Amino acid sequence: MSCAQCQGIVQEFDDSVARRELARYRRRGPRGTTRMLVDLLRGEGVRDRTFLDVGGGVGVIHHELLASGAASGVDVDASPAYVSVSREEAARRHHEDRIRYVQGDFVELASSLDPADIVTLDRVICCYPNMPALVDASASRARRVYGVVIPREHWLMRVGIRAINVIQTIRRRPFRVFLHRAADVDARVTALGLDKRHHGRSLLWQVLLYTRKVPGASAR
Ligand SMILES: C[S@@+](CC[C@H](N)C(=O)[O-])C[C@H]1O[C@@H](n2cnc3c(N)ncnc32)[C@H](O)[C@@H]1O
Repeated sequence: MSCAQCQGIVQEFDDSVARRELARYRRRGPRGTTRMLVDLLRGEGVRDRTFLDVGGGVGVIHHELLASGAASGVDVDASPAYVSVSREEAARRHHEDRIRYVQGDFVELASSLDPADIVTLDRVICCYPNMPALVDASASRARRVYGVVIPREHWLMRVGIRAINVIQTIRRRPFRVFLHRAADVDARVTALGLDKRHHGRSLLWQVLLYTRKVPGASAR
């Protein structure tokens, strides 16, 4: 990751943001599109599966998967605050022995990580400038199911993202948001042997779920 974006993530997703997110999750459960993705994953079968949650934040997806009987998994997140808050939550939920936390840039770390049955990136691709590297490294590690949540490409999101980036520039903060095209993400994922099974939408986000044609076949 460009060093500026790296610093930006650490600065943006700090301890106070992480604690606020966790409090919201405890109070209200998963957000709309996260809930949609978790339900789709449950539909594909979660029990006894392994997972890789890239940019898991406070861990909504992996806490839900573990509660649904997933065997074990790994969360890789560039934000030290998110890793620490999610680890605390895992301990509170008594499933800390079934999850390993790794802090850093997933693209740099990917070659050291094993493939998993389920790989997820919930609102992560839009935080990363090099979409092809992030998608290739993650989709190639999905043995069965690959799920992503990315921004929709309509005018509202375009204006919103542009406004965020202008404000970030004015505030001299390095973090930027990226609107990568769903068609480009889709082309890379399908080239890696995964089939699109579901394409859901909310007002601002879209949820894409893929399954591998031959489970485990082309995962690295
Ligand atoms: C908008 S937050 C979403 C968090 C969580 N998935 C959710 O939906 O609530 C983006 C997350 O992606 C992480 N992230 C972005 N790029 C990353 C990368 N290359 N490697 C690891 N984590 C990354 C950030 O640290 C942050 O936790």
